[in-house]
Amino acid sequence: MNTYKLIGPFKQVLPMTGLPLNGALKDEQLNVLEGKVGILLQGETIAKTGDFDTLLNESKIIGAEVVELDGDFVALPGFIDSHTHICSSGSRARDYAFRNSGKTYLEMAELGGGIWYTVTQTRNASQKELEAGIAERASRHLSEGVTTIETKSGYGLTVDEELKMLRAIQAVNEKHAADLVSTCLAAHMHPKGFEGSKAEYLEQIGSKLFPILKEENLASRIDIFVESGAFSPQEAKPYLEKAKAMGFSITIHADQFSTGGSQLAVEVGAVSADHLEASTDKEVEILAKSNTIATALPGATLGLGCAYTPARKLLNAGACLAIASDWNPGSAPMGDLLMQAAVLGSAEKLSNAEVLAGITVRAAAALELTDRGTLAEGALADLAIFPCNNYQEILYQQGKLKPAMVYKKGQKI
Ligand code: NIG
Ligand code: FE
Repeated sequence: MNTYKLIGPFKQVLPMTGLPLNGALKDEQLNVLEGKVGILLQGETIAKTGDFDTLLNESKIIGAEVVELDGDFVALPGFIDSHTHICSSGSRARDYAFRNSGKTYLEMAELGGGIWYTVTQTRNASQKELEAGIAERASRHLSEGVTTIETKSGYGLTVDEELKMLRAIQAVNEKHAADLVSTCLAAHMHPKGFEGSKAEYLEQIGSKLFPILKEENLASRIDIFVESGAFSPQEAKPYLEKAKAMGFSITIHADQFSTGGSQLAVEVGAVSADHLEASTDKEVEILAKSNTIATALPGATLGLGCAYTPARKLLNAGACLAIASDWNPGSAPMGDLLMQAAVLGSAEKLSNAEVLAGITVRAAAALELTDRGTLAEGALADLAIFPCNNYQEILYQQGKLKPAMVYKKGQKI
């Protein structure tokens, strides 16, 4: 389907092109097309952006469909959420209430809460039930302009239960308008009742699950929670090296409560190190000197009431910063990427360019996707279209201004 479609006129279009991948960004560096701007689509991709009237004349010649907009609109690339756990079952409202009443993580786990509670709920759910939950959350994300959603397993913690989760993600990806990028997080915690050490559990996952992931094309990314209470850097390293040797890309839940994960991420050449709330200046330096993308998860900060990822320091030191929602039933139940990114911007003093790059072009890099995150010619026609006359309104309204229209691969949602 290669039909042409012209959409516009827009007050502004931000193609998010021409920005460096690393380091601080000023708003003056943003390429803002202004006035009366059009976006010409060809099938699923962007053909051109430019002056609306010129593109209108061209459209008549090539027989393009014209979607003429009435009002003030600003267009950006569809947002990319590079870290979520939207495949899960059950609510952890009880955890949240307990935490806010002063109970610690450990006390809650003893009370039957924590990650293990969600593991139990997720194991009790059928694949079809998981699919319904993923689809519902993906639809909400899509309506809020998030057109690509990384989705982790990690609440199964046996070969079969992890496969159930990853097959559910694959099934939803096949029929949902949003794109899901799956990641295997079988190394989320040492499962209760597993007869064997953490190293033995990881060995079993590597030898039994990894080959099936390849066979069924279920995931090309491996994640691990590196944290005291989960897996140490020493335990994680051989697991990640095996994954790398098998051709998987690596991402790590790193430095959430204690350090160690980000250094390991750099050592093993991980694509991204996510969380980093506990990172000190030392970890900031290590990440900034590497090709590992630092991913801030402000939803977990808001959910747990803890520190923000030192996003300003990371950018100043020259790191690449992506921003993701971490949407999960435990630490980040809200799942509003734009709101969280806006709040991180105000807490950490990030420019509009830094925040918007963090949920578009830099988030695409965190998922190693080169076909989206910008409105460059040939990129996927994924658009988040906001009802305003200036892009600054979007983060200013802190997530309350939702897209008026969303396009995924050239189709209006
Ligand atoms: O990214 N930190 C580890 N994993 C998730 C939380 C999972 C949960 O609490 O269910 C996170 O915050
Ligand atoms: Fe997470």
